[in-house]
Amino acid sequence: MTDRYAVFGHPIAHSKSPLIHASFAQQTGQDLVYEAILAPLDGFVDSIRQFQTNGGKGANITIPFKEQAFSLCKQRTPRAELAGAVNTLVFADNAITGDNTDGAGLIADLTHNLGFALADKHVLLLGAGGAARGVIGPLLECSPASLVIANRTANRAHDLAAHFQHQGFHTVSACGLGELNAPFDLIINATAASLGGELPPISSQVFKSHALAYDMMYGKDITPFMKLAQRHGAHIADGLGMLVEQAAEAFYLWRGVRPATASVIAALRAA
Ligand code: ATR
Repeated sequence: MTDRYAVFGHPIAHSKSPLIHASFAQQTGQDLVYEAILAPLDGFVDSIRQFQTNGGKGANITIPFKEQAFSLCKQRTPRAELAGAVNTLVFADNAITGDNTDGAGLIADLTHNLGFALADKHVLLLGAGGAARGVIGPLLECSPASLVIANRTANRAHDLAAHFQHQGFHTVSACGLGELNAPFDLIINATAASLGGELPPISSQVFKSHALAYDMMYGKDITPFMKLAQRHGAHIADGLGMLVEQAAEAFYLWRGVRPATASVIAALRAA
C-alpha cells in the first residue's frame, strides 16, 4: 500500500512541500503520496490523530502549529528540544516522535549550496521568534567566532541568548536592532518583516564587504532586506534552498534515503 505523508498548516494552500516531496519520491523510487492539509486553528491535534489513525506515516508541520506539535510529542530529538519547536513528525506503533529539520536545512543550504563555511565567522541573526529559535542550536554547533541575536524587542533576544548560554554555548550574545554597528560575515534575516514587504530597521554597517545576506523568506521578488544588503556589496540568498533542504532531511528521516536537492531547487526557481 502507498505510504501517506502530509504537511499541516493554516494557511496551507501555497505550500510547496507536496511538490518537493513528489519530486523526491519520483527521484528515489519511493512509493508515497504527500498532501497539504489545512488544520483548523483550534483543531490541530485532532487533525494529526485522525491522519495517524488513517494510516499516515509522518507529517511536516508549519505555521502556526510548530509549538503545538512540540507539546504533542512525547518523544523528541535533541535538536527539537533545543529549537523548542517541531516541524517533522514520525509515526510508528501508535507513538509520535518529533524532530526539527529547519536548522539542518539552513546549514545544508549555507554550506553545500552556497559554499559558506561557518567556522570562525561572525554571524548576525535578526529576529527572536520561532524561525530564529529553530536555527540557533545548529548554527552554534558549526563553531562561528560569534553569534549575535538582534531583535526589535531586545528582551526576547536576550532571553534566547541566555537559554543557549545555559546550554554551554558561550559565543552567543544579544542586542536590540538599534544597537548594531559592527560588520558581520553572515547576516540572516529570521524576522517576519519580509512577509509584509518591510525592512528590519538595521544599520548598513552590519554588511561586511562580500558578506552573505540570507533571508529565510522566499518569493518571486527579492526582499527589502536583500536589496539593502546588495546595495552595500553583500552577496544575497533567499530561503528557497533552506525549504528544500529541510524537506530532504525530513524525507531521509521517513524513508532512510537522501534525495538530491539541486535539481529540485532549480526547478522551483524556474517555476
Ligand atoms: P516566527 O515564528 O515566524 O519567527 P514570530 O514568533 O511572530 O514569528 O516572530 C516574528 C519575529 O519577527 C520577531 O522577532 C519580531 O520582532 P518582535 O519580537 O520585536 O515582535 C520580528 N518582526 C516582525 N516584523 C518586524 C519588522 N517589521 N521589523 C523588525 N522585526 C520584525
